[in-house]
Amino acid sequence: MQKRELQSSAAADRLCRSAYCEKHGDYVEAGRKVFGRVIWFGCAKCQEEERKRQEMLQKLEEARGHAWSYRLLFGEWLPKAFDFPLENFEVLDAAMGDAYCAAEEYVRNFYRYRSEGRGLFLTGTAGTGKTKLACAVLKSLFPDVVGCYVTLSDLGDRVRQTWRSLSGESAPFTEAQLLNAVYRAPLLVLDEIGTIAKPQDGELLFKVINTRYSNLLPTIGISNLSLKELCSLYSERLSRRMEERNQTIVFDWTPWQERKKQNENGFSSGR
Ligand SMILES: Nc1ncnc2c1ncn2[C@@H]1O[C@H](COP(=O)(O)OP(=O)(O)O)[C@@H](O)[C@H]1O
Ligand SMILES: [Mg+2]
Ligand SMILES: [Zn+2]
Repeated sequence: MQKRELQSSAAADRLCRSAYCEKHGDYVEAGRKVFGRVIWFGCAKCQEEERKRQEMLQKLEEARGHAWSYRLLFGEWLPKAFDFPLENFEVLDAAMGDAYCAAEEYVRNFYRYRSEGRGLFLTGTAGTGKTKLACAVLKSLFPDVVGCYVTLSDLGDRVRQTWRSLSGESAPFTEAQLLNAVYRAPLLVLDEIGTIAKPQDGELLFKVINTRYSNLLPTIGISNLSLKELCSLYSERLSRRMEERNQTIVFDWTPWQERKKQNENGFSSGR
């Protein structure tokens, strides 16, 4: 009985009236009577838009925080020259178009690929835009996903820097922090695999690739070498891991700068 009275008095307190929003036009405004005072709630559409804006700002702030933590560990979130979204990747012929489309499709379906631990392997000639395309994938996923970019040799150097710090010099990060970042990033771009082949980096490379493989986390690996060449440089277990869940994109066209020069000199584009 008491409950029904409470309900009916709450219903009686509900008000509505016709109102006008400069942005959304005519609407029915809800209100409520509270102990003799009347409160009008305003335009529901405006409030929904404001809530979404606040959510976006919060997401952006969190994403900037993640990017900042990578910057503390690796110097920059993305190298400055590659801090561009996919739209900036120019497509000059069908083969470049295929590479671009594969990257675009990867971004569009990232959540599915991520749940399957699927990544990409970009291989081919130096100067053809592999780093450019991989960084563009990271940039295009931001702020929904904040991936991590590092070259294998830089990662190795930084890890070794923390060892030296034990004997006096201090590095602003620990080995565990560096490894955690590359083990756990929602997407890792590991660049220049096999470019400066330091034997110590082979073990590190396998640890990173294998840990992420085991945890179903996607990696974009980049190398001037093919999987077969990586197999003989490092090991078969590594190239197997890299092959299994990654789509290979081959960059076999003329390097970008050469191509530009050719175009400036009046040649038609060359492969
Ligand atoms: N498709 C492209 N559109 C615009 N610039 C490109 C493209 N491909 C390469 N470049 C430019 O050419 C240079 C070499 O590209 P990079 O990504 O470093 O090649 P890779 O990693 O394959 O060695 C960079 O300055 C890059 O910005
Ligand atoms: Mg590169
Ligand atoms: Zn409104």
